[in-house]
Amino acid sequence: RYYSEMSKPSVYITRQVNEEALNLLNTHCDVTYWTGSGPVPRAELLKNIQNKDALFCMLTDKIDSEVLDKAGNNLKIIATMSVGYDHLDVKEIKKRNVKITYTPDVLTDATAELAVALLLATSRRLLEANEEARTGGWQAWSPFWMCGPGLKDSTVGIVGFGRIGQEIAKRLKPFNPKRIIYYNRSERKKEAEQIGAERASFEDLLAQSDFISVSLSLTPETKEMFNEAAFNKMKPNAVFVNTSRGGIVEQEALIKALQQKKIYGAGLDVMTPEPLPLDNPLFKLKNCVILPHIGSASIETRKEMGVICAKNILAAIKGEPLLTELKT
Ligand code: DGY
Repeated sequence: RYYSEMSKPSVYITRQVNEEALNLLNTHCDVTYWTGSGPVPRAELLKNIQNKDALFCMLTDKIDSEVLDKAGNNLKIIATMSVGYDHLDVKEIKKRNVKITYTPDVLTDATAELAVALLLATSRRLLEANEEARTGGWQAWSPFWMCGPGLKDSTVGIVGFGRIGQEIAKRLKPFNPKRIIYYNRSERKKEAEQIGAERASFEDLLAQSDFISVSLSLTPETKEMFNEAAFNKMKPNAVFVNTSRGGIVEQEALIKALQQKKIYGAGLDVMTPEPLPLDNPLFKLKNCVILPHIGSASIETRKEMGVICAKNILAAIKGEPLLTELKT
């Protein structure tokens, strides 16, 4: 399609994004965006997507055939400001020859950093200890008060040994665990050798790990992979950390495992649903640390994620190669 000066390509953004991203898009496009504080309401999205050339969306927006039908034939690209894409109906989108881009790599370090922080916050009971200090629970130094398991000489299990899983392993290595094991669909021999990690079956990883960190995409195969049977296989001192997607965990089974102290604790940056309702039993558990999906939330990373989306949209509009196309 030819765009004249008079009719610039049109982009809809489902949130207010950073200036850097917006400025880039404004050079070549007519940009409209949702200005509300939360995610764009469905009805607004359906109304505003009509006849747009590009959609810049978030993981909170479900993009399915209804949205695509409303968009119509002009839509060329959907750029999601996330590495996860379980909110996109990829099959439907591809069927309509619409390109998809996402934001891998740029958020790997920030997410790995957060996973380590969450692991330590859970094992060393940082939030609980902080609460005790603030509320008078700290009476005197006590030999075994607020103790938790240490990483030194432990077995660390990484489930999902992709970019993020590997970076988590690298960051945990200096804490001197005895072993780092990983479970991944395909073998990652070279990367594992460099890090000093060994491949294990899912069952062995569950049974042997003192710390389990999950960094998987949510797919039909990984959905609720951490179910009752999985938690039953874990050690009673196991610390379970999830920074990927809540859907990978059968949450009721996790709640039971934590309540019955079948595992030591859980650190969750993701859960089902998000935001987690305030009356959810997970909030009542001292052995559970809950974060509001902030894995990639370093300032630089989020800015860069926005810029990547904008650059992908510009490339798609100009018919140039995309920076980070999702090829499934
Ligand atoms: C993603 O990108 O999928 C994360 O969950 C948020 O950055």
